[in-house]
Amino acid sequence: MKQALLYQIYSLLGLLPLCILCASFSNKCTVTHKVADCSHLKLTQVPDDLPTNITVLNLTHNQLRRLPPANFTRYSKLLVLDGGFNTISKLEPGLCQNLPLLKILNLQHNELSHLSDKTFMFCMNLTELYLMSNSIQKIQNNPFRNQKNLIKLDLSHNGLSSTQLGTQLQLENLQELLLSSNKIHALRSEELDFLGNSSLQKLELSSNQIKEFSPGCFHVIGKLFGLFLNNAQLGPSLTEKLCSELANTSIQNLSLSNIQLYGISNTTFFGLKQTNLTMLDLSHNNLNVIGNDSFAWLPHLKYFSLEYNNIAHLSSRSFYGLFNVRHLNLKRSFTKQSISLASLPKIDDFSFQWLKCLEYLNMEDNNIPGIKSSMFTGLINLKYLSLSNTFTSLQTLTNETFLSLAHSPLRVLNLTRNKISKLESGAFSCLGYLEVLDVGLNEIQQELTGQEWRGLGNIFEIYLSYNKYLQLTSNSFMSVPGLQRLMLRRVGLKSIEGSPSPFHNLHNLTILDLSNNNIANINDAMLEGLEKLEILDLQHNNLARLWKHANPGGPVLFLKGLSHLHILNLESNGFDEIPVEVFKDLSELKSISLGLNNLNILPPSLFDHQKSLKSLNLQKNLITSVEKNVFEPVFQNLTYLDMSFNPFDCTCESIAWFVNWINQTHTNISELSSHYLCNTPHQSHGLPVTLFDTAPCKDSAPFELLFMINTSVLLIFIFIVLFIHFEGWRFSFYWNVLVHRVLGFKEVDAQPEQFEYTAYIIHAYKDRDWVWENFSPLEEKDRSLKFCLEERDFEAGVLGLEAIVNSIKRSRKIIFVITQHLLKDPLCKRFKVHHAVQQAIEQNLDSIILVFLEDIPDYKLNHALCLRRGMFRSHCILSWPAQKERTYDVILILHVSTTYRLP
Ligand SMILES: *[C@@H]1O[C@H](CO)[C@@H](O)[C@H](O)[C@H]1NC(C)=O
Ligand SMILES: *[C@@H]1O[C@H](CO)[C@@H](O)[C@H](O)[C@H]1NC(C)=O
Ligand SMILES: *[C@@H]1O[C@H](CO)[C@@H](O)[C@H](O)[C@H]1NC(C)=O
Ligand SMILES: *[C@@H]1O[C@H](CO)[C@@H](O)[C@H](O)[C@H]1NC(C)=O
Ligand SMILES: *[C@@H]1O[C@H](CO)[C@@H](O)[C@H](O)[C@H]1NC(C)=O
Ligand SMILES: *[C@@H]1O[C@H](CO)[C@@H](O)[C@H](O)[C@H]1NC(C)=O
Ligand SMILES: *[C@@H]1O[C@H](CO)[C@@H](O)[C@H](O)[C@H]1NC(C)=O
Ligand SMILES: *[C@@H]1O[C@H](CO)[C@@H](O)[C@H](O)[C@H]1NC(C)=O
Repeated sequence: MKQALLYQIYSLLGLLPLCILCASFSNKCTVTHKVADCSHLKLTQVPDDLPTNITVLNLTHNQLRRLPPANFTRYSKLLVLDGGFNTISKLEPGLCQNLPLLKILNLQHNELSHLSDKTFMFCMNLTELYLMSNSIQKIQNNPFRNQKNLIKLDLSHNGLSSTQLGTQLQLENLQELLLSSNKIHALRSEELDFLGNSSLQKLELSSNQIKEFSPGCFHVIGKLFGLFLNNAQLGPSLTEKLCSELANTSIQNLSLSNIQLYGISNTTFFGLKQTNLTMLDLSHNNLNVIGNDSFAWLPHLKYFSLEYNNIAHLSSRSFYGLFNVRHLNLKRSFTKQSISLASLPKIDDFSFQWLKCLEYLNMEDNNIPGIKSSMFTGLINLKYLSLSNTFTSLQTLTNETFLSLAHSPLRVLNLTRNKISKLESGAFSCLGYLEVLDVGLNEIQQELTGQEWRGLGNIFEIYLSYNKYLQLTSNSFMSVPGLQRLMLRRVGLKSIEGSPSPFHNLHNLTILDLSNNNIANINDAMLEGLEKLEILDLQHNNLARLWKHANPGGPVLFLKGLSHLHILNLESNGFDEIPVEVFKDLSELKSISLGLNNLNILPPSLFDHQKSLKSLNLQKNLITSVEKNVFEPVFQNLTYLDMSFNPFDCTCESIAWFVNWINQTHTNISELSSHYLCNTPHQSHGLPVTLFDTAPCKDSAPFELLFMINTSVLLIFIFIVLFIHFEGWRFSFYWNVLVHRVLGFKEVDAQPEQFEYTAYIIHAYKDRDWVWENFSPLEEKDRSLKFCLEERDFEAGVLGLEAIVNSIKRSRKIIFVITQHLLKDPLCKRFKVHHAVQQAIEQNLDSIILVFLEDIPDYKLNHALCLRRGMFRSHCILSWPAQKERTYDVILILHVSTTYRLP
């Protein structure tokens, strides 16, 4: 027991800091620029830690039961206090005392039921007071007496049974009093006379079941400009009574929508004769019968709504007297039953003749059989006429259809949804002022010859979209050269091939919509000369072939010259190729849509001229990689990008640059994490592109460099090794020569007298006979030659090495007689050759002469004697001449200086 208590104390202690925490964090109000928003926070108390300089405090949608004045002392600067949607049941006068500047107080949707004289006593600066949706059923005495500045008072949706809000004159500045949805059954003068000094722009009494208008009830109000009595079951007789009560008031706006006014006659509005009524709303009344001259009493009326009624017949005097109406709404005004032709609504000729000032006429969504020859006669100021879905049978528009509008300065004519199937020549010829013609959503099926638009000298926009089948010729728009907007969406244009193009004379065209036509054939001159074109819609066609490389005659560049184009839509055309130069002229393009095509690879520099592009859409293509050389220029100023649903290849080469760009861009890319998924490689399939880690890719650039350096170093190394292997001997040999020269073993420019022998002959022992046979004849031929022949000139048997050295030294040249035998002769190999070469290096490279008796490859020579042909000048190398005569050459070589060349 004791332990349990202790445990409870501990746990309470443990919770204590938590509670302090939650108390101090309970206030999650957002404060911006002196506005504190504390809505939707389940508050039970007014926060006490907001900045004291706030002017707006929003406490809506909380659980406040009271607004204790003390809690507001710190917010004395408040101008607006919104305490709506709480459970406040009582308001203390001190609240306004603490908020002297309060202008707007909103207490809607609370539980206030009683207002006393003191409740708002100190709220003297209030201009707006909202008390709707409380449970105020009765107002006693004068709770609003001090609201001299009040402009708007809303007491709708309470249980008030009377309009009486006070017993003395008050609310002299009130402009709007809203009392709709209460339980007011009667308007009595004594219950409205507290408004005697007010001029009400709007007295809203809708949705009260008012059954009585006592005499003078509106006259006790200072001035009444607007009365709203919608949704009351007044019926014709009470309406008439209402109007008679309104006689001689300043009433201007009267709204009587949905009051079951099924019939009106020449007496209904009689009372309004003595008013300046300008606006009358009779919509939603099931109104069936309009007696002649019913509106004769409303000469000042300007805005008149009869929409959503059930009028069966409009006669030539139904609208008599509406001389000032500017704006007439007849949308769904006429009876809808169309079982038989007899029950269709009837509009007599000349019905509108009285409406001399009418500018705007809306007759949408009716079931009128057709246009009679004088139907619209007399509408001499009509500018806007909507006949959308107005007629049941208007198949063919002839040159007579709109004759009754010939004297109207009509600017806009809307003929959509009328099942029109044909426009005959001159159908609009009497509508010379027309600027906008909408014949979209019909069933027009014809070749446009251009005569249809005859007479439309001021036309600006023709809307032809959504028709059955149109065929264009070169003359289709010949008669409307000023046209700026032409809409031809989904009109079954298969091809536009005529030459010149149907658009060739539309030099002012700024918008052209050719979408949803399945167009497959156009030529590159179709849009030629449309230099002002700003918006071009070509989506949902079949233009893919035109941009293919393989297209006969090359790609068709139909966008060339459109230098002012801002918006281009090419979605859903099956494009799988884009010629690189296709957007070249479109330097002002702001938005391009290429979504829903089959594009995979975009050529580099494709968008190089689209520097001002703001929006790019490439969603649902087959793009796998987003490369810098394609997208970098165009991404620079982009504010919106859509590349969702492409099969991205999440590898460094394909999307690393893209992901890095996404991470630092301010461009708006929606659904990034759910609609931008990797397709390949396999292990990334289905992962968001944004999760792709670019860190490993960052190092790839240095790696590449390193790789390149490594490779080149390796290649150079291999080259050097090979070079040294094959040509290295040259270096070591010439190095040797150089060293000896530099170190002072000067070439002995010896005089011939210094040498005992002309040449020392090195040969293999086995070749001694050949040498004897061939060289001694030379000596005989030329007496100045003296060879050193070992067999002859050495003392017999004295083959000492020293003697050889000496002899070599005493010879001007050294002749190598090179045979296979020499290569194998050990003495020659090791000693003589080495010594001879050494001497040559020290003295003169020309002193060695190689005489080849056999053809011996260089490598064998090198291998056996460490000699190469390349070490000696070419004239010091000779093959022993086959012909005897040429042996003299050898003598020559032995004589001449080093510069001599053998011929
Ligand atoms: C309101 O007061 C707070 C301090 O309570 C101050 O930081 C803020 O700058 C003030 N705001 C304005 C708009 O004066
Ligand atoms: C207070 O907040 C509610 C809900 O957020 C909003 O509807 C209401 O307009 C706000 N009141 C004021 C005075 O801004
Ligand atoms: C609000 O006032 C009440 C008394 O009127 C007081 O008990 C309460 O602590 C106050 N709350 C705040 C948040 O100031
Ligand atoms: C009404 O507001 C003004 C400032 O706009 C102020 O001087 C005056 O005292 C306020 N009136 C009352 C009754 O607090
Ligand atoms: C109203 O119409 C009736 C006939 O329907 C006619 O006898 C009467 O004179 C008309 N009243 C006025 C004021 O025009
Ligand atoms: C209607 O307006 C005219 C002038 O605009 C004015 O003289 C006349 O008093 C007004 N009638 C009523 C009933 O307010
Ligand atoms: C309408 O066209 C027909 C010929 O198609 C012509 O006879 C008639 O005069 C034209 N009507 C008008 C009002 O131009
Ligand atoms: C014609 O009326 C239809 C239906 O109200 C509307 O959607 C369309 O925008 C109108 N056309 C023009 C050019 O205003």
